[in-house]
Amino acid sequence: MIYQIYPRSFADRNGDGVGDIAGIRAHLDYLAALGVDAIWVSPWYPSPMADAGYDVSDYRDIDPVFGTLAEAEALIAEAHAVDIRVIIDIVPNHCSDAHPWFQAALAGGPDAPERDLFWFRPGRGPNGDQMPTGWASPFGGTTWTRTTDPGGAPGDWYLHLFTPQQPDFNWDHPRVRAEFEDVLRFWLDRGIDGIRIDSAALLVKDPTLPEHDPGNPGFDPASRHPFVDLDGVHDIYRGWRRTADGYPGHRVLIGEVWLPDPQRFANYLRPDELHTAFNFAFLGCAWEPATLRACIDETLRVHAPVRAPATWVLSNHDVTRHVTRYGREDTTFSFASKREGLPADLELGTRRARAAALLCLALPGSAYLYQGEELGLWEVEDIPHELRQDAMWHRSGHVDPGRDGCRVPLPWSGEEPPFGFSPSTAHAPPWLPQPADWKDRTVRAQTGDPHSMLELYREALRIRRAEAALGDGSLRWLPSSTDVLAFARDPDIACVVNLSVVAVPLPAHDAILLASGPLDSDLLPPDTAAWLRIGKDS
Ligand code: NOJ
Repeated sequence: MIYQIYPRSFADRNGDGVGDIAGIRAHLDYLAALGVDAIWVSPWYPSPMADAGYDVSDYRDIDPVFGTLAEAEALIAEAHAVDIRVIIDIVPNHCSDAHPWFQAALAGGPDAPERDLFWFRPGRGPNGDQMPTGWASPFGGTTWTRTTDPGGAPGDWYLHLFTPQQPDFNWDHPRVRAEFEDVLRFWLDRGIDGIRIDSAALLVKDPTLPEHDPGNPGFDPASRHPFVDLDGVHDIYRGWRRTADGYPGHRVLIGEVWLPDPQRFANYLRPDELHTAFNFAFLGCAWEPATLRACIDETLRVHAPVRAPATWVLSNHDVTRHVTRYGREDTTFSFASKREGLPADLELGTRRARAAALLCLALPGSAYLYQGEELGLWEVEDIPHELRQDAMWHRSGHVDPGRDGCRVPLPWSGEEPPFGFSPSTAHAPPWLPQPADWKDRTVRAQTGDPHSMLELYREALRIRRAEAALGDGSLRWLPSSTDVLAFARDPDIACVVNLSVVAVPLPAHDAILLASGPLDSDLLPPDTAAWLRIGKDS
């Protein structure tokens, strides 16, 4: 069970309104007691923060807003001392435009050797004033920006799949490959246990930079990215794997492979390359029994031949929190539908989120928990426009609400903002405003309340650790009506999720280990899940 820490929003120790490494260190006991196996820390490197740290200007240091390298080293050691492994986020597809290589590429003009480390191209048309390709960015806007030559004349264009402040690296260049091998060693030398690889499928572009063609399998139809030459990707991650294997212990490589098609997604996984990747198909899946079951089956089917553990993810720092999503009529996630901002029934969403937690934690493989999910936080959708920070909001011309709503600082304690996120002596408010209603969602308010989301997660994680049937292994569907998901985890645990609108009888069991909501004698109410102890032959 891997817990995602978004450092800006986890806990602020120095009172500047932004979370920091000291804040993470101060709450390691909370994470250990919650029962997490590892933390994945979103980028903490020096960055101008054009994309909240996913625009890195130095891969071997820590941004002062988060602390120092010495503090990062202390965090790694202290996490290990409480048996928590540390996974850091590596951003290899692009850097920041403040990165020294990119600065040298601009300053040195068209002949600068550093230009070859990126994708500089002349424009099309007689004056070169048309972009080299018409690719669209998932952040809105274009994927090319024109440079100005040192003499002041309009120059070449450079590629940035995300914001203009995030130039894409050219992974065909040996210096780029060597640099990232070295970055990997830098952090492995500091004891990290794994890496989460940002935009892991986008690194190797088709060098001919072809125009978008929906019939061309070299394009990701969802995002229109030239998504690549798979052999090139395999080659990179095999190299990283070998580097990581040179260190004692197991180091995990987790890819962010955002592809809707499970088969294409699984092509990126190999035991000696990327071990696992986030299951975005499951994350985006509707709260609907047939679709969920098909998604689970398909996930397990495509993972088996590549011997990769399946992953189960409900939320992260890029998507609408699932308490909100599951409270909507359309319970799927997509960046397109997010723009519609439809109303959400948070009580219903919370009930379903509780059931979804038990579903995820009972499925075979590894589960990811995005900070605040264990508190039942919802998407904050009413952040005043002038306080919104996300590049998606700005780049889309304010059409896309952006991702700030899932990044609001965590509530730890107290009756009003900053809810213990910052110390009482803080000299700035939290970097995004927290809803006053979160006073019931603080860690303090939920601790000891047996009906709280936090205690549900604590208990589920305790059982998951204690029971051999959970975690790795296989899944066996049990007979059930089509609106119910019921499966056994051999030898002796079953998980039942009622997605129908009526209460249903539980299958035969010896004991109820945990339920996501109150049961009606032996009936499982709608949108409720239960873990059962079953006989070995059930
Ligand atoms: C995926 C990350 O999760 C997201 O937050 C970021 O904006 C893009 N990659 C670009 O780095």
